Amino acid sequence: MSTILKAVNIEKTYGKGELSVHALKNINLSIEDGIFYAIIGKSGSGKSTLLHILGGLDKPSSGKMYLEDKSMFDLRDRELAILRRQRIGFVFQSFNLLEEHTVMENILIPIELDGKHPDMKHIDKVIDSLGIREKLSYYPDELSGGQRQRVAIARALASKPALLLADEPTGNLDDKTSNEVMNLLKESAKEFHQTIILVTHDPQIADMADKVITISDGNLVSIQDN
Ligand SMILES: Nc1ncnc2c1ncn2[C@@H]1O[C@H](COP(=O)(O)OP(=O)(O)OP(=O)(O)O)[C@@H](O)[C@H]1O
Ligand SMILES: [Mg+2]
Repeated sequence: MSTILKAVNIEKTYGKGELSVHALKNINLSIEDGIFYAIIGKSGSGKSTLLHILGGLDKPSSGKMYLEDKSMFDLRDRELAILRRQRIGFVFQSFNLLEEHTVMENILIPIELDGKHPDMKHIDKVIDSLGIREKLSYYPDELSGGQRQRVAIARALASKPALLLADEPTGNLDDKTSNEVMNLLKESAKEFHQTIILVTHDPQIADMADKVITISDGNLVSIQDN
């Protein structure tokens, strides 16, 4: 097994002076290729902050992040943006859909930005698994929260990224849909040899991962096998 992602002495402090928040404290973490991780911890413990730094979206205050041996924050912004687009799929806590584009465009745009041809057979399967086929020509503001969430998941899976980072991807879904989404993620990970890191509050969801990373008050407490 090899390491796809490595965090070395990651610190993150938001703001300055009395109001500053020490959100991550000396995080050291190796993410193994092809493994499904869940990150759990209380609200405000630093889960989203960690996920954003792991994915190169947010700079740490200090420390280094390596993606497949590339030091992410030593790259130029443009190089980092390309690396992210080619290797990482994100499902954000706030979805980040493009409101002025249809559901189908939201799913295809990241692939087209990369000058690639979408694998429509794969994308069709993702769309059907997520039950969003009848919404493809709608705009995000015409969808429910759970539907928006499913579009965000479809967009992240469409390019078969090596690394999938998802922040509460089942947070707005009922139990049945949530289970379906988890099964889809697991199947996709297996078929395309993807590494998944998923933030969740839900112990049942965390149970479905291979390994569980627990953080508390900005500290990495443990990494346990399920
Ligand atoms: N942009 C920001 N500016 C200032 N403080 C921030 C910012 N983002 C997060 N924080 C603070 O950093 C800490 C960790 O926040 P983070 O969003 O990582 O928590 P979380 O574990 O994802 O919580 P939740 O489960 O509620 O999503 C919190 O105290 C939060 O208030
Ligand atoms: Mg969060």
